[in-house]
Amino acid sequence: KEAKFKNEFAILEFAKGFYHYYLNHTKDGKEALSYLKERGIDSETIDAFGIGLAPSYSDALVKTLTNNQYPLELAAQVGLLNEHNGHYYDRFKSRIMFPISDKLGHVVGFSGRVFLDGDTHLGKYVNSPESNVFQKGKLIYHLNEAKRSIRRHNRVLLFEGFLDVIAAVKAGFDESVATMGTALTEEHSRELRRLTDKIILCFDGDKAGLSAASKAIPILMAQNFSISVAEFPNNMDPDEFIKTYGSEAFSKLIDQAIPAIDYQYLSIRRQFNLDFVSHREQFKRQIYHFAYTLQSATLKELILKKLAHDISIGEQSILQEFNYSSKSQVYKNVNINNNKNENVQIHSRQ
Ligand code: CTP
Ligand code: MN
Ligand code: MN
Ligand code: MN
Ligand code: MN
Repeated sequence: KEAKFKNEFAILEFAKGFYHYYLNHTKDGKEALSYLKERGIDSETIDAFGIGLAPSYSDALVKTLTNNQYPLELAAQVGLLNEHNGHYYDRFKSRIMFPISDKLGHVVGFSGRVFLDGDTHLGKYVNSPESNVFQKGKLIYHLNEAKRSIRRHNRVLLFEGFLDVIAAVKAGFDESVATMGTALTEEHSRELRRLTDKIILCFDGDKAGLSAASKAIPILMAQNFSISVAEFPNNMDPDEFIKTYGSEAFSKLIDQAIPAIDYQYLSIRRQFNLDFVSHREQFKRQIYHFAYTLQSATLKELILKKLAHDISIGEQSILQEFNYSSKSQVYKNVNINNNKNENVQIHSRQ
């Protein structure tokens, strides 16, 4: 009995139940519920994702844990409480609580979102601190629940935000997951690759999202994912898109996802105004750098021919210049792109 109470997963599961109860069955919960309703999160979704509410006073969870004989020290270790001068205080206050589970379904932490105006001094989200159970570099939101769908559909949809996942699941896409506000790591990628070799990036349609996609692509490519990118218009994130245009439109957008290689080419091209000669030259250099990183000779050639066309230069001139510069600058560019596989390939070519 004692052992059960000392289990960190048990204490986190208990906290999840507490927050969920507090959202659904208290007067304070009403305001949070109306915020959620406003966002299109109904009670079915609240139950399915175990959404809750952290009370506004700083000893709510402390008292409940004490009454239920949970050790406060352990609660602090898993980031539910803060300790100050030997006293314990709730870490999460007045926040809508989203439990985060590991791939086996154990609750390992929370992300708490502000919902009242003016309570943003700690940021829009407060997350559990890193601990031996909560490690953002490894955690994938909704993975346990999505596993079967990912295998069945042989693809995974990767989002930036867990609220995007919640919206996508509601729109019928169970094979949806997200990282916890961190850039995709090799470990995330490896974990997903065990389930499928197809991934669709559904990042926010803003600058941060574009840059997150460019960073994720090389990591995923290194593990032989077939990658495509869904593009969301007008700086929208998937959640906003679904709310505005509906599930059908979202489904279409997923179907129209662009293969990563074309996406990368386009995202470089968009940085330049090709009316200017100087821009064409810079654009060309960037595409050369990009082409160096590609493993496939066919893809290299296709990209270079596309470049030739876009800047109105003969294909042969471009191919010759690229081949010449790839010989003379090979090591410099390998460093820039930091691509280990390419490194090996180039060495063997010497
Ligand atoms: N994030 C965070 N802390 C912040 C902002 C973001 O931890 N202050 C993380 C969260 O995990 C969030 C993800 O980054 O899910 C994406 O951020 P953002 O796009 O800003 O959040 P949304 O998911 O769009 O949340 P909302 O719709 O509630 O604004
Ligand atoms: Mn319930
Ligand atoms: Mn964003
Ligand atoms: Mn977002
Ligand atoms: Mn959002």
